[in-house]
Amino acid sequence: MPAQLIDGLALSKKLRLQIAQQAQALSEQGLRPGLAVVLVGEDPASQVYVRNKIKACEEAGIHSVLQKLPAQTSQQELLEHIAALNADASIHGILVQLPLPKHLDADAVIEAIAPEKDVDGFHIASAGALMTGLPGGFWPCTPHGCLQMLDAIGCELRGKHAVVVGRSNIVGKPMAMMLLARSATVTICHSATADLGAITRQADVLVAAVGKEKLITREMVKPGAVVIDVGMNRNAQGKLCGDVDFEQVQQVASWITPVPGGVGPMTITMLLANTIESAQRAAG
Ligand code: GUN
Repeated sequence: MPAQLIDGLALSKKLRLQIAQQAQALSEQGLRPGLAVVLVGEDPASQVYVRNKIKACEEAGIHSVLQKLPAQTSQQELLEHIAALNADASIHGILVQLPLPKHLDADAVIEAIAPEKDVDGFHIASAGALMTGLPGGFWPCTPHGCLQMLDAIGCELRGKHAVVVGRSNIVGKPMAMMLLARSATVTICHSATADLGAITRQADVLVAAVGKEKLITREMVKPGAVVIDVGMNRNAQGKLCGDVDFEQVQQVASWITPVPGGVGPMTITMLLANTIESAQRAAG
């Protein structure tokens, strides 16, 4: 029997309705949640992502501000923009779209965001809170969305072997921490991992977050595994596809996320959720 689909679009719709209600409740208390999105330069993919984030805010009743800055913006100018947003009480979340043009220091820019407005969850204060389990900070949106999908299908993580392929600060590392916090036994694989398939075959839960089309083949997946595909690649025909060979792997997995319509919509949903959370914290 082929795997059941984990429908990120349907789950997103459901969660976004709840988020819109929370936004309305906050607005009625005179505290309309606000998100600022900063885009430097004209990267076409980033422009699409940013447009989708702004549209999602509008649909949820979250106030949004888009700051489009020219590609030549200096580090100092960008830091001044962030300082102004940090001081702006109508803004509860600040997101600087990555990647930044090469002359800018992305790490320094992220650290300049006030931790209480770090709705992307990339600041070291957020990373530290996730790592230690201490309160505060925000969880990065993509892995948090993956966890929500696992919860939505009732996937028990305690004692399971979760294998995360990819070790980025945005997805792989925080994903591993979230799974560990749920008492899964976690293995992180990466580009230097020897015999990747030997490890992924042990996974009860497999998360692929590498950015390589068809990296995960049928032979690399244990029958009955839950497979979460974070990849967003374009194949030779220009079609959007993940890191998992979907047609093949769905023959062996018990659950699988499609691309598109899986993790993608959940990332923006969790950004909205973090913005609401930030506004609620500001409300005290
Ligand atoms: N670029 C790709 N994904 C993301 C994301 O989740 N947040 C930001 N700020 N930039 C990104």
